[in-house]
Amino acid sequence: MELDIKNLISLGIKSLELSKLKDSADLIPGFIESFKKRDQGFLNLPKVKAQVLSVKSMADKLQGKFEDIVVLGIGGSALGITCIRDCLLGKFSNFSKPRLFVIDNLDTISEIESLINLDKTLFIVISKSGSTPETMAQYFYFKDKVSKENFVFITDSNEGELRKIGTDLQIKMLDIPANVGGRFSVLTSVGLFPAAMMGIDIEEMLEGAEEMAKDFENKEFERNIGFQLATIQYLLDWEEGIRISVMMPYNSRLFSFADWYRQLLAESIGKDGKGLTPLIALGVTDQHSQLQLYNEGPKDKLFIFLEVEEEDGLKIPKIENENFKYLSGVSFGKLMSVEKKATEQALTQYEKPNITLKIEKLDAKNLGSLFMLFETSIAFLGEYYRINAFNQPGVELGKKLTKEILSKK
Ligand code: PA5
Repeated sequence: MELDIKNLISLGIKSLELSKLKDSADLIPGFIESFKKRDQGFLNLPKVKAQVLSVKSMADKLQGKFEDIVVLGIGGSALGITCIRDCLLGKFSNFSKPRLFVIDNLDTISEIESLINLDKTLFIVISKSGSTPETMAQYFYFKDKVSKENFVFITDSNEGELRKIGTDLQIKMLDIPANVGGRFSVLTSVGLFPAAMMGIDIEEMLEGAEEMAKDFENKEFERNIGFQLATIQYLLDWEEGIRISVMMPYNSRLFSFADWYRQLLAESIGKDGKGLTPLIALGVTDQHSQLQLYNEGPKDKLFIFLEVEEEDGLKIPKIENENFKYLSGVSFGKLMSVEKKATEQALTQYEKPNITLKIEKLDAKNLGSLFMLFETSIAFLGEYYRINAFNQPGVELGKKLTKEILSKK
């Protein structure tokens, strides 16, 4: 994996000169010291062997017993597993069984219910806090329609209402470590158990994450991609007033990754009047929907392209029509990568900051690395902004008010 920042440097922005960026690496030791005081567990997850064992043993017992899997969860309890499914099984994987449905919103329940056989479906209820109204409402909706043998709960290892219910009803349960928050939980049983049930190699995913976690403490700017990302995002905001971050994968499967990152960035950094606004776009599709704005609109965005180097070899056949000869025999992957190149060149000509993360191929190992990379970049961003990137008081307030309003009624 490599971060290409040439286009950004070529813009000659004073505060982002290469020498200044490299010097910023002096901040790494202090940031790491401060991060360690926050007691966050996500960095060490790939090393927690007990977690893999419990996930695999539960998956071994349940695999083959169900036609479909339904995840009840929202936010950090839904976005990670949706991303794993789309990236590793494909955008259209739900056309064949076993299918993995993630009911996050409140208005998709009846649609999904009409597609499944309740008796032959495993319901995985995921909530770190164990009290999120959307998830609990969904659980109570299905509770008496389905045998308790069809449920697995994934929740905080020590506390919460979901854990109490699970203990009382003797429901199968997996833990989320107390020091791993919702949006950082994709490499706990939250992402790993549904993935293992779908036959995904979770150990490879953790191996990729572990390799990336090693770079977190690397004091060289070039070798620490998480720090590079954070430094660029922070300086563009602080020095240039550019505080919209557009993640644009040139890969349909990775669109869900951008969706996962959107929550991570928004909830972690949007605090104390500070924050970066995440947008997501899909290459090439959104060239025909967003690119006009990106090229000729306000200079208020950083573009983070994700590019998968292994190309789709499927070829366009020979074309005789003179007007389309340039497409003759070209692979769709090549066309996609050329269009990406054209987009980044156009943006650079319009002096819009853009960088590209290059990923050799989209597999379980690299997806694990990607999760860890962007989580570590958020840890650095939190230190830059001097905020606690790991809480979400604004989200909690919404949950509290929902409860209060409904209780009055
Ligand atoms: O990151 C977070 O903590 C939140 O976005 C949560 O993931 C989301 O609110 C769901 O919470 P829970 O997993 O407690 O049901």
